[in-house]
Amino acid sequence: VTGISDLRSVFAGKLLTDPADTAPFLTDWRGLWTGRARAVVQPDSTADVAAAVRWCAERRVPIVPQGGNTGMSGGATPDGSGDAIVLSLARLNRVRGIDTVNDSIIVEAGCILQAVQDAADRADRYFPLSLAAEGSCTIGGNLACNAGGTGVLRYGVARDLCLGLEIVTADGEIWDGLRGLRKDNSGYDLRNLFIGSEGTLGIITAAVLKLHPRPLARATAFVALQSPASALELLGLVRRRHQSALSAFELLSETCLSLVVEHQPGARRPLGSSAPWYVLIEFSGSSDEESLRADLEAVLMAGLDTGIVLDAAIAESLSQAAAFWTIREGISEAQGAIGKTIKHDIAVPISAIGRFLDQADAAVARRWPGARHVTFGHVGDGNLHYNFSPVPGQDGAAFMAMQDDLNALIHDIVVAHGGTISAEHGLGVLRRDEAARLKSPVELRLQHKIKHALDPLGILNPGKLIAVAQRSATEGAS
Ligand code: FAD
Ligand code: MLT
Ligand code: ZN
Repeated sequence: VTGISDLRSVFAGKLLTDPADTAPFLTDWRGLWTGRARAVVQPDSTADVAAAVRWCAERRVPIVPQGGNTGMSGGATPDGSGDAIVLSLARLNRVRGIDTVNDSIIVEAGCILQAVQDAADRADRYFPLSLAAEGSCTIGGNLACNAGGTGVLRYGVARDLCLGLEIVTADGEIWDGLRGLRKDNSGYDLRNLFIGSEGTLGIITAAVLKLHPRPLARATAFVALQSPASALELLGLVRRRHQSALSAFELLSETCLSLVVEHQPGARRPLGSSAPWYVLIEFSGSSDEESLRADLEAVLMAGLDTGIVLDAAIAESLSQAAAFWTIREGISEAQGAIGKTIKHDIAVPISAIGRFLDQADAAVARRWPGARHVTFGHVGDGNLHYNFSPVPGQDGAAFMAMQDDLNALIHDIVVAHGGTISAEHGLGVLRRDEAARLKSPVELRLQHKIKHALDPLGILNPGKLIAVAQRSATEGAS
């Protein structure tokens, strides 16, 4: 490998160049993108991250930050040129401190999300960010993507759980913004610029995160429904009666349930009969389990009485609740088991979900009759994964050839309903050009100005989120 001998001496033991060692860092988990890199650097201190960035800045070497490499949009994979360094934050993974009076924790970027949850738990607190990849994604990646997950309707997205950041800037300086403050109006909000910037404005090396009281009890239900419209009616009913108890409201179709039951060892149908749609509802809080269950049961009975609910089961034990969650959390993997996937991560106002689905389903049926929908998502946030898989026997390449047209069709409907084409997965390379097509010239110009101000050499994750070539906003929006 050329051009890295001096980097090798600075990062002895923390630099991978052997193809067998670097391979896992050069491909995303879905196998959709594979790139090349000069090396993978694995610093274990903020000072070392800064040194690596300075090395790259002096030589104009592109840097691709990477956490757990579980992202959905190709943001952590280098391009095919072989010019870049992959900067893995995985070894920068200490918990620096916890403050139970301030209800905050300081963690380094490479901390696995589950390790953050566990550290909070040991201090009798709760860190509520929760998603199926929590055993392997990192908090740095979560913040870089502004991840969502299944607890957003009560606790907000990753951004809402972050009080402060430590950042290595594009020229290798360290910004210590590790402030554990709930209020801070002392100038432009730099923290919120870096959150969701997908590694294109700075490297997140540590964060102060907000902790919550640990819920003392939970009640979990798996509910059968006729349609997403029924799910929205039930959501309304639950909110009117028990807004403060509601901590998750996840929608999935029968196709999703059958996929998980077929592909996940041990997964079983929670209900005796099948239905077109289901929701997983969780109540949690500081009241006792009995009263939470009674509230959940009462609202489901009301749903049954009015015909919104077809059938429902309330978990009788922690293991039964875990079994319900296994189904919800197993969808991505089960979908992966049947071939390539075309994913959408759309959000519309909750009131527009029914209309979005009616229009999108009809448009897809006209253009690709028989297409295999795998629709699920965080319906309580207005966020759906309007996904597709190949129909049995369909050639993978032929299926993926639909992607651009399918994306454009769906995204146009999303925008017509005042929605977004990325609610929680980010743009990466997957949605970068679609975002440029759909955003206004003013918004695109502002985004390019921010990128240029914070990364004038364009070395931070080039080609992700916004195109490298500074396309004119008019061209981007045409
Ligand atoms: P990576 O994949 O390594 O990186 C993601 C992006 O962040 C890249 O652009 C990378 O360059 C950048 N980045 C990473 N670390 C840093 C850093 N320290 N500083 C600057 N930039 C950085 N997401 C949701 O929002 N909700 C879900 O419900 C959800 N479910 C998922 C389920 C499964 C099974 C999987 C595999 C993924 C799921 N995701 C979900 C995707 C989610 O975005 C990621 O799992 C997670 O947020 C990314 O963390 P990571 O450490 O793996 O980041
Ligand atoms: C999830 O909510 O499980 C993921 O974000 C969605 C996906 O895999 O498309
Ligand atoms: Zn999701």
